[in-house]
Amino acid sequence: MHTTVSLSELGFDGSSGIFRPVADSCPLTPTTTHRRLTKVSVIGAGNVGMAIAQTILTQNLADEIALLDANRDKLRGETLDLQHAAAFLPRVRIVSATDAAITKNSDLVVITAGARQVSGETRLDLLHRNVALYRKIVPAVAENSPEALLLVVSNPVDVLTYVAWRLSGFPASRVIGSGTNLDSSRFRFLIADHLQVNAQDIQAYMVGEHGDSSVAICSSISVGGMPALKSLRDNHQSFDEAALEGIRLAVVGSAYEVIGLKGYTSWAIGYSVASLATSLLRDQRRVHPVSVLAVGFHGISDGHEVFLSLPACLGRDGILGVAEMDLTEAEAAQLRRSAKTLWENCQLLGL
Ligand SMILES: NC(=O)c1ccc[n+]([C@@H]2O[C@H](COP(=O)([O-])OP(=O)(O)OC[C@H]3O[C@@H](n4cnc5c(N)ncnc54)[C@H](O)[C@@H]3O)[C@@H](O)[C@H]2O)c1
Repeated sequence: MHTTVSLSELGFDGSSGIFRPVADSCPLTPTTTHRRLTKVSVIGAGNVGMAIAQTILTQNLADEIALLDANRDKLRGETLDLQHAAAFLPRVRIVSATDAAITKNSDLVVITAGARQVSGETRLDLLHRNVALYRKIVPAVAENSPEALLLVVSNPVDVLTYVAWRLSGFPASRVIGSGTNLDSSRFRFLIADHLQVNAQDIQAYMVGEHGDSSVAICSSISVGGMPALKSLRDNHQSFDEAALEGIRLAVVGSAYEVIGLKGYTSWAIGYSVASLATSLLRDQRRVHPVSVLAVGFHGISDGHEVFLSLPACLGRDGILGVAEMDLTEAEAAQLRRSAKTLWENCQLLGL
């Protein structure tokens, strides 16, 4: 099991001879730690996993990053490539292995492993391929890090978040799907680009399923905290119902467009997941639309234990609460339809 490349692996002994401990202290060794280090594991070192790992690395969110993948050579290549940036980055221990033991004592485990969505394939088509894989990964990860937060990214993300919840035995507050955090960023980008303002000043949520039936909450669009839909409509004839549905479809279609053009998506999901990791690990209590156990919200039936995206407050303990949104009846009905479809899919899994 390769975990890292070191000079001791090349035959050099352990002492550096350069540093001597001051009197009465321990020698400088990699294992001398006095504070709790933050460990993030990324399962799946593909395009998405590596974009997430590198964004977390550059944002200085973890003291240790563990990578796990089934493809030994690709994993070693990716690990070395990241390690070779050490001189330009904060000091982070990067380890990797094909065995889940490498993830031991993680604070956050991000699961991206999976069959990739190919051009023309819906996210729900991926379901059966990825559930089999999760049956191998999730119990092993949960056993190695029983206190961790689980962040699911593989698609179809809402169903796989449910699968991870069931297979891990973790409380629902510690199992989170990346959900529509990325869709909402795409939505905010389109509005910001139109208004020529910073997307961080646009509040606009996509909720529900990460995928074709996601719901754009147009009534909640605000710019710099000011409700914007009325003014957009007053000033632009084009902001009618059909145009808003056009924006929603553009958001939904943008993942397919990127996949069609470059074969996969990676950079935006990397930043999206790093923003979630920041809120979780640094207890930032920011509100993100993420996939949560949605039973009981917006009329989703009590018997339907589904995960879908709602705006949730994230902190060190995971999901701290879900915002009660004011939805129109049409928006709530769409959410319930998505919940019903997702529930029917979950029922096929026999978990
Ligand atoms: N939720 C989102 O917003 C979002 C966005 C983009 C992509 N995704 C999803 O992320 C997933 C990964 O996409 P990608 O482009 O990185 O795919 P990829 O094919 O590049 O990477 C998948 C990796 O998983 C690994 N893997 C397969 N089986 C494994 C196992 N049993 N244990 C460990 N690793 C294993 C593969 O070796 C591969 O390296 C896909 O399901 C994709 O649809 C989700």
